[in-house]
Amino acid sequence: MPPILEIADLKKLARRRVPKMFFDYADSGSWTESTYRANEEDFAGIKLRQRVLVDMTDRSLASTMVGEPVAMPVALAPTGLTGMQHADGEILAARAAEKFGVPFTLSTMSICSIEDVAAATGKPFWFQLYVMRDKDFVANLIDRAKAAGCSALVLTLDLQILGQRHKDLRNGLSAPPRFTPKHIWQMATRPRWCLGMLGTQRRTFGNIVGHAKGVADLSSLSSWTAEQFDPRLSWEDIEWIRQRWGGKLILKGILDREDAEMAARTGADAIVVSNHGGRQLDGADSSIARLGEIADAVGDRIEIQFDGGIRSGQDVLKALCLGARGTYIGRPFLYGLGAMGEAGVTMALEIIRKELDITMALCGKRDIKLAGKDWLARPLA
Ligand SMILES: Cc1cc2nc3c(=O)[nH]c(=O)nc-3n(C[C@H](O)[C@H](O)[C@H](O)COP(=O)(O)O)c2cc1C
Repeated sequence: MPPILEIADLKKLARRRVPKMFFDYADSGSWTESTYRANEEDFAGIKLRQRVLVDMTDRSLASTMVGEPVAMPVALAPTGLTGMQHADGEILAARAAEKFGVPFTLSTMSICSIEDVAAATGKPFWFQLYVMRDKDFVANLIDRAKAAGCSALVLTLDLQILGQRHKDLRNGLSAPPRFTPKHIWQMATRPRWCLGMLGTQRRTFGNIVGHAKGVADLSSLSSWTAEQFDPRLSWEDIEWIRQRWGGKLILKGILDREDAEMAARTGADAIVVSNHGGRQLDGADSSIARLGEIADAVGDRIEIQFDGGIRSGQDVLKALCLGARGTYIGRPFLYGLGAMGEAGVTMALEIIRKELDITMALCGKRDIKLAGKDWLARPLA
């Protein structure tokens, strides 16, 4: 096997090991995927400031995100169907994150349930909430996350309605997969993945089946998810969710300065500057293009977090310099998971840590908490 040196190497391996419909689910954006591409590409326009002859010993990547200590300011983003990239994927990723010392965020649309992940880990993880029309179900999800000891609730604001992703429709994506000749072929050519799946019972949406009204089996599930996201979600709803939850609250999916101003007034603990990894409004700006302006506007009132397009430790550093306190990675850890399970997630985190550490040193800096615009070569236009 060729050496794995960067996230792109994990992506190549994941493509070979994960059935096409699930690999494509991760490696896709909505419509033309222009925002998905821009998320990655726009980092290249930000240049770092090289400094020399500064003491580079005793460097520290340790920081905090919503007050929690982190080994480096990089959390695992909530991603749906993670247990389809690899059997028991959420459990494996949560374990890797726990050992590494960074937060793991479990998606509402996960395969392993809140209770599954809690039973398999020793430290609190974060839970991401989608707001459904069925408010009893939402309240119950919040209560379950509380009972499982989750230490932050990440409320996603940018998916009241689903942006169309052509690949998923063309591939006929479902969980569990259907048994058409095309799907059987896709799975049969990935024997390692099949073996893993045969060894687990977790093959559908663990937080939903058996918990939501009228969803006892799989046949009703796909229509339920399509109908259930609440298109009327508004700023007023944040208050009851905040009250019910009663802990650290992070608002995810802010890309506009005015929305950031509103978010800062909600009493939430942090916002995530994010466009859902280019999976929702295609044609929107990249996340990194909007980060600086938003951080300048509200960064003194609310913690700024960031995701979208991070593929290296250098990208993490650039986001921190532009005002993020912490960042999230989505696809990088999914590629690691699909490539090599828990070891692959650890590898993704190791790659990013090493790149972040060496980059910081070559900028002549030693403490990641002090990252700021003065670490960049020139202000952005
Ligand atoms: C396969 C996949 C599934 C996702 N599912 C969710 C989800 O269930 N909830 C959510 O809030 N965000 C979801 N996201 C968005 C991520 O949390 C995050 O915003 C995005 O992946 C960051 O971009 P990156 O993948 O370039 O790091 C998903 C992203 C991907 C790639």
